[in-house]
Amino acid sequence: MLRNSNDNINSRKGIHKIIRERRSITVFKDKPVEEAAVLLILDAGRWAPSSNNSQPWEFVIISEKARKNAIADLYIEAYNKRAKKVDENTRKKIVEIMPYLEDELKVPPFLIIVCANSEKSKSYLIDTSASIENMLLMACELGLGTNWIDLTTTDFAEEFNLKKLKEYLFIPEKVIPIAIIPLGFPEETPPPPARRRIRDLIHKDFW
Ligand SMILES: Cc1cc2nc3c(=O)[nH]c(=O)nc-3n(C[C@H](O)[C@H](O)[C@H](O)COP(=O)(O)O)c2cc1C
Repeated sequence: MLRNSNDNINSRKGIHKIIRERRSITVFKDKPVEEAAVLLILDAGRWAPSSNNSQPWEFVIISEKARKNAIADLYIEAYNKRAKKVDENTRKKIVEIMPYLEDELKVPPFLIIVCANSEKSKSYLIDTSASIENMLLMACELGLGTNWIDLTTTDFAEEFNLKKLKEYLFIPEKVIPIAIIPLGFPEETPPPPARRRIRDLIHKDFW
């Protein structure tokens, strides 16, 4: 079966359907989301696997307008800093999306700041990433849109003022912000970005 693997995998039901339909959303409706839905999403996050069941994740849920705006300001600041360091083409792309960046974090009714207590697990980044993916899938199942804005490993993350974010949200020293997940009703239905072909990434019995 694996030897003949092709990309025509059509049995999209249940979890497989959700996995295939989840998209990263950057444009949200200005429409409230019930707290019960947020709780379900966080519940999905806490049921993720983690090394030694360490569960190093912590979730800061932001709904106050002023706080969302302050986080959006840090987001823009990071992009502006990044724009100064990149080549001309990348700078043009950043300038193009600049007018929309604020709304990405200001419009959705909730921002989930996913954090990790680094003292609870050596693999806190992996554990917390599993938790994030669970939440993105749960949100999709509920008809809600999300994105994964990484605060730890990307070029953008290098420019993000984590210290300011931590001070602003009273996050303890040992706790590390890992990602911002905006959460709201999607205002867009982006086409699925291409994935590598399944036959190109399977190595049967040996590489
Ligand atoms: C570690 C990580 C960091 C990401 N950072 C960003 C980001 O800063 N901004 C953004 O719009 N999307 C970000 N994304 C979303 C990816 O761009 C997106 O998952 C990818 O293009 C595939 O699209 P899809 O999620 O719709 O399938 C990130 C995803 C991951 C896993």
